[in-house]
Amino acid sequence: MVGLPGRGKTFLCNKLVCYLSWLGHTTKLFNVGSYRRLQRGEHEVQDAAFFAHENEKGKETRQRALHAALEDLQDYLAAEGQVAIFDATNTTEERRRLLVQRFHGKYQYIFIESICTDQGVLEANYRFKMRYSPDYQNMDEDKAVEDFRQRIRNYEEVYEPITDRNLHYIKLIDMVTGRAHLDINRISGYIPGKIVFFLMQVCKAGMTQKRKIWLTRHGESIFNTQGLIGGDSSLSEKGWDFARALPEALLHRIPMTSEAPAVPVSVWTSTLKRTIESASHLPFPKLRWKALDEIHAGSYDGCTYAQIANTSPEEYQARQMDKLRYRYPAGESYLDVIQRLEPVIIELEREKESVCIVGHQAVLRALYGYFAAVPLQDIPTLEVPLHHLIELQPKADGTMQVERIPVHLDAFSSGHSLSQKNIGRRLDPVQLPFGASHASSDALESPGHTDPLPPSGDRSDYLSPGPVSQPSQEMHGSVSESKGMHHDDGGDRKVSGASLAGAGCSH
Ligand code: SIN
Repeated sequence: MVGLPGRGKTFLCNKLVCYLSWLGHTTKLFNVGSYRRLQRGEHEVQDAAFFAHENEKGKETRQRALHAALEDLQDYLAAEGQVAIFDATNTTEERRRLLVQRFHGKYQYIFIESICTDQGVLEANYRFKMRYSPDYQNMDEDKAVEDFRQRIRNYEEVYEPITDRNLHYIKLIDMVTGRAHLDINRISGYIPGKIVFFLMQVCKAGMTQKRKIWLTRHGESIFNTQGLIGGDSSLSEKGWDFARALPEALLHRIPMTSEAPAVPVSVWTSTLKRTIESASHLPFPKLRWKALDEIHAGSYDGCTYAQIANTSPEEYQARQMDKLRYRYPAGESYLDVIQRLEPVIIELEREKESVCIVGHQAVLRALYGYFAAVPLQDIPTLEVPLHHLIELQPKADGTMQVERIPVHLDAFSSGHSLSQKNIGRRLDPVQLPFGASHASSDALESPGHTDPLPPSGDRSDYLSPGPVSQPSQEMHGSVSESKGMHHDDGGDRKVSGASLAGAGCSH
């Protein structure tokens, strides 16, 4: 990275770690600031004066931090690493020469320089950053910002933006404002190409985002109650209780103040009934994505896990052994799901609105895995319980603050729904944060069980996992085990061992 402090370098680094790791490229971030904090002497204060060019002691500590980070980075690349991101200011030509000498001929390298000159935007960014910066913990915000401005002035004295056209670089201009453009020089290759593409998208939303993203599984479906995987069944009664309880749970979490306009909210579902029905009471515009459909169980669509284990133990075992790569015959693997979710991730990164995704277990595991930079191998076993909201709130450093909120069904089990009047009392309708880029909400007038009006958007053109077959009627009545199990995909739950007699699943 290259750039003055407060230009969103760490934000971009963390985003790149999420994206490249999620695409399967082993990626690690080396933040020189963290190494510098580790090098701090017993009575050393690392305030603005520490960063002054003439502060020899400060320079010494910073050099030690630089070399410690570079050593670790090189060890990592020599061992398992595919991509290493060196998060430092690297603002002088001398520093960049040192890096080139160290890596030239051994690794492909790119400098990513972030530039911003919009003082208003920078000021907002500094304040946003102060809330999370480990250098300014427990410090008054105004004092912290003043010290940070002085630190930047110290860097500005020696800053030399990249001008050497022989270097491989991407310059991001005004990235923090959300109106960025890129200046790209001597970039080629697959991963560098993906990085350019991704940076272009991330820049669209800007850095100082006040929105939230919520992930929630659909309510219990009829298939869930029968322990069947896949299919396109409707919600059970309990599932409908969840659908009625969801608006109340969500409305409490929408970021808004009495003065500031609310951040608009959109609801994204899959094209399957159980997510559409679960979202049907939410008073916000809705978008259906084919790419959000559950992992396709192929030949085992409509079976129970017990049936798979009994009729095809080798398939069942293969999935247990490697749930990430195992592909259902004529269906999908988790890796396939991750691949088809890339357009959803890109759209989420571009989006300035809050988004509530009502989805399926495997798909939400994959999406959460992206935002939390979970190693691919661990994605298929992530905890995504039913009847919970996972709330993700962007932080200044590009990571997400995560909160898990249970959705209580009790008040809604009598079939009572949160009516428009109730919502209105809670939230002035004028302020209802409708997704700005979509049509106005239909659901306010239509709190029925089905989504009676056309969706405000449809993304069914995105990569389809293939046709999802309807379960046969025989299968419904024939399976006696697993009642009440809530699973969309297999592998992480034990087979109940119940009788398969008469089961319609003949695979
Ligand atoms: C820092 O110490 O926070 C940044 C190190 C650098 O200037 O590269």
